[in-house]
Amino acid sequence: MDLSEYRSEFPILKNKIYLNTCSLGALSRRSREYVKTYLAQWDEFGASAWYSLWMNDIAAVRNMIAEILHADKDEIALGHSISTLLSTVASCFRYDDREKIVVTELDFPTANYQWFAKESLGARIEMLSSPDSVHIPLEKFQEAIDDKTLLVSTSHVFFTSGQIQDIATINTIARRHGALCIVDAYQSVGQVPVRVHDMGIDILVSGGLKWLLGGSGITFLYVRKDLASSLQPSSIGWFGVSNQFEFAPDRINLIDSTRRFETGTPSVAALAAFKGGLEIILEIGLENIHKAAKQISEELVERLKKAGFNPCVAENPTERSAIVMVPHPDPSSAVGALSKRNIIVDFRKGCIRVSPYFYNSSEDIEKFVFALKEIS
Ligand SMILES: Cc1ncc(COP(=O)(O)O)c(C=O)c1O
Repeated sequence: MDLSEYRSEFPILKNKIYLNTCSLGALSRRSREYVKTYLAQWDEFGASAWYSLWMNDIAAVRNMIAEILHADKDEIALGHSISTLLSTVASCFRYDDREKIVVTELDFPTANYQWFAKESLGARIEMLSSPDSVHIPLEKFQEAIDDKTLLVSTSHVFFTSGQIQDIATINTIARRHGALCIVDAYQSVGQVPVRVHDMGIDILVSGGLKWLLGGSGITFLYVRKDLASSLQPSSIGWFGVSNQFEFAPDRINLIDSTRRFETGTPSVAALAAFKGGLEIILEIGLENIHKAAKQISEELVERLKKAGFNPCVAENPTERSAIVMVPHPDPSSAVGALSKRNIIVDFRKGCIRVSPYFYNSSEDIEKFVFALKEIS
């Protein structure tokens, strides 16, 4: 499949070499059109658009996410950020009988904060360290997860190294000890295939911002069907109850599925933008996207090496994603200098972070490496 025809869907690619999808996916024409449509509907119908249009749009987005994850429709709940979804999930537990939460130092801070915030309720955090800032050896999970472990909360793809973790194995270890596994898949869904049932995942969060090309303010939660109704969040909202439009102020009837984790009114503008991204992802197909992202990121690694750089990526190519770290003595200045040349990348902890996607070309990679060499 020739994906170069999709470049014209993303106007930013005309003027910039955009290599920062892991911070924010590029805006498509389609997302812009859907947001414009939302504004026109708001203008034309006012509040009646909720019932005639937007509730259907919300359901359509849930269904598209289910398709992407190979999940069932009622295993998906929408949220506003990863932080709020995880804090809703964290509100389900008592942290008394089992109190250990296993996390890693490579996970995104907001994911770990949810568990530190529960220390006052008895949660005990065990943070696994990385020997190389790239990965966490599986043996560390094996050693840490025991019969006191309530949860293992970790990333599918690490945001600062791009390493893909073996989530299926981590899940199996957790299950062996009666613990649940929570996966932060914000840096994986879209660029790396995620089949939640096949991988045996209990709970997963992800969202629109990055590899699903949907912009900010829209995230989602997957909870395994048989687990969802046994979890009772104490942090809830009226989008999570079955009698939402009865406006009953005197009782809670949580929906008997993952939708019980939805809280308040979603941002329809964010949903509209997300719908454009999801449509493109589904149209191209996750396997095709994965193949293209893998190819362009391997090309980047090779070109960097040839130019004398030492990209810091997982040793095993099957554990590499489209996030490539390039150690640099002054990454912040380098990112600024590249930006002046219309090359958009990012930096984290002593490295320039480069994240190409299916819409990037070999020419983008060549120009980036050339410019990096020049400014260095
Ligand atoms: C892996 C990962 N998790 C979570 C977040 C942030 O989550 P939120 O701002 O939606 O709470 C990010 C970055 O934005 C991330 O890369």
